[in-house]
Amino acid sequence: MSCRHTVLRLLPVLTIAAACLAGIYYRAYSPPRYTPAQPVPFDHATHTDADKANMDCLACHRGGETQPAAGMPPASTCLDCHRHILADDPRLLPLHAAANPDSPIYTSDPLRWVRSQALPAHVHFNHAAHAKAGYACERCHPNPGSATDHSMSTCIECHRTENLGTACSDCHH
Ligand code: HEC
Ligand code: HEC
Ligand code: HEC
Ligand code: HEC
Ligand code: HEC
Repeated sequence: MSCRHTVLRLLPVLTIAAACLAGIYYRAYSPPRYTPAQPVPFDHATHTDADKANMDCLACHRGGETQPAAGMPPASTCLDCHRHILADDPRLLPLHAAANPDSPIYTSDPLRWVRSQALPAHVHFNHAAHAKAGYACERCHPNPGSATDHSMSTCIECHRTENLGTACSDCHH
């Protein structure tokens, strides 16, 4: 067998190996995730812990099982509770400005939550497809609000375990 044929037969293996190395390299050398200042100092634990507000993720991120993007809650969702809970708390003034027409500071300008874990635009990820496969939110977001790592190697490790293809074009456009 010629050397050229051996290389051709090994090509898929080499490609996957290169992707793994790129993934490991990228993970090892990626800088710490950016944790931006938000319009309101929101804390997930207060809202999702069973002994606190005990909310379901989908109450705020409504697209998490049915849409490509999970989505961010509008201020009106927050005010469903915060018209009554901590109603005069200065930390929550931006909620009243955004969505409480009875408030003197009402402007109707929506809150602008800052994404801290966004994937680069060339990567395709769809929440609905992954919810259909049966994963709970916590599988990929064990601790929302802290630096969760959506690295390429995390995607590929699971896709390989699930016997899915790992062609570059599956995830990259
Ligand atoms: C009361 C509403 C609320 C609930 C309930 C809630 N979230 Fe959030 N979530 C937010 C808000 C507001 C932000 C934006 C501020 C921030 O990043 O902390 C956010 C941000 C996030 C982000 C970060 C997105 C990014 O790229 O910056 C993830 C991931 C997330 N939530 C997942 C979850 C999961 C998983 C649950 C259930 C365990 C959950 N959330 C429950 C309101 C909520
Ligand atoms: C289901 C009711 C509910 C909803 C909806 C809700 N909260 Fe809360 N929130 C609470 C409770 C309960 C507390 C704790 C109150 C206390 O400390 O006395 C709280 C506390 C807070 C605090 C004070 C800091 C802390 O974590 O204790 C902030 C800020 C806050 N919420 C922001 C938000 C924002 C922003 C949203 C919408 C994205 C939201 N909340 C939606 C129930 C809710
Ligand atoms: C298989 C892994 C996986 C699962 C399961 C998953 N997510 Fe995500 N989530 C991601 C990735 C990856 C991103 C970054 C996507 C991007 O930036 O395009 C993300 C982004 C988000 C964001 C911010 C951007 C957006 O989509 O609006 C929120 C909020 C979020 N997820 C909530 C949830 C909730 C709620 C669930 C459960 C219903 C869930 N996720 C299940 C991997 C997952
Ligand atoms: C926990 C395991 C797991 C993780 C982590 C995971 N996936 Fe998936 N992914 C799956 C499964 C299972 C399917 C097949 C779903 C179906 O039945 O179509 C899938 C399907 C896909 C598809 C094809 C369906 C579609 O959306 O068009 C793409 C693209 C994809 N994943 C991208 C990603 C990316 C990008 C990441 C990392 C940011 C990722 N996945 C992380 C398990 C995972
Ligand atoms: C299962 C999904 C998946 C597959 C398959 C995949 N990638 Fe990725 N790739 C990602 C994700 C997610 C990121 C973003 C990682 C991050 O932001 O930390 C990424 C990032 C990258 C980057 C870094 C780009 C940047 O913005 O810095 C390169 C280069 C890359 N991939 C090349 C490849 C090549 C080449 C292949 C095929 C051999 C491949 N990827 C296959 C999910 C995938």
